[in-house]
Amino acid sequence: MLIGKHLIDPSDFTREEFRELFDLAHQVVKNPEDFRKSCEGKILATLFYEPSTRTRFSFEAAMLRLGGSIIGFSEPNSSSVAKGESIADTIRTIECYADIAVMRHPKEGAPRVATQWLSAMPLINAGDGGHQHPTQTLTDILTVELLKGSVENRVYGFCGDLKFGRTVHSFIKFLSNYEGIKLVLISPEELRVPEYIREEVIKKNNISCIEADKMEPYMKEMDFLYMTRVQRERFFNEEDYIRLKDRFILDKEKMKYAGKETYILHPLPRVNEISIEVDQDPRAQYFQQAKNGMYVRMALILKLLGIY
Ligand code: CP
Repeated sequence: MLIGKHLIDPSDFTREEFRELFDLAHQVVKNPEDFRKSCEGKILATLFYEPSTRTRFSFEAAMLRLGGSIIGFSEPNSSSVAKGESIADTIRTIECYADIAVMRHPKEGAPRVATQWLSAMPLINAGDGGHQHPTQTLTDILTVELLKGSVENRVYGFCGDLKFGRTVHSFIKFLSNYEGIKLVLISPEELRVPEYIREEVIKKNNISCIEADKMEPYMKEMDFLYMTRVQRERFFNEEDYIRLKDRFILDKEKMKYAGKETYILHPLPRVNEISIEVDQDPRAQYFQQAKNGMYVRMALILKLLGIY
């Protein structure tokens, strides 16, 4: 039962709860119109302390397509945050007005702290610093299931900024519940996955894992290659960003190394790491992935509000 739960980290839901959620998401994908009045009278609040296109708009589109309404801010300085209001006071106030809320914050752990001040309203983490982004993982996993039918017994390549890339951390954490997962982690030395992901998620769960600094030798065996941008906003030093930002660029030439059914995913936004010429390749699935994000967020809202 997901009613009333918060989703801050992939470990907040059991494997069974995720299954329940994805089963509903598949129904939404098939017949989104069937759900168009499901949230009439309900309000979703979006509290974005950091910029967003996909996460905010897909949550808002999801609620509107369910017949509900939306309130919120995408620029914290347009709210009383600019006057120094704490997260605790903001979230307690939002609970007076909304039925469910989504929060993105640059500080790791901020959405988790916010849940301590809530009595009944479910809160969803829309990305906290370089830590976690669990609803991007919902988007990614729905895309995996739609393309391949199942998550287990697959090879997942991750390439780019694996240190600060919160979507990668959440995705790997989610995969650790499944059998037969093989990871290929491609990054510059400085941007390898954080120690807690390597030790507490990958090693602890005996997940097969290769860390590499080239993508070509591994592309053929991958079911998915998950490209990520280098996260400029998390760097202390612009010089390091400039040195590392274009280290891995997936272009038409490199796509020749991929298998016929190696699908290319990317949480977006993209900077230079996938050439636009790759967009025409049927294996490039990142815009469909962004669309799937709206469907799975529709399912998530329905489940947390206890409507389905
Ligand atoms: N994937 C993702 O989180 O995109 P936005 O930053 O545009 O929300």
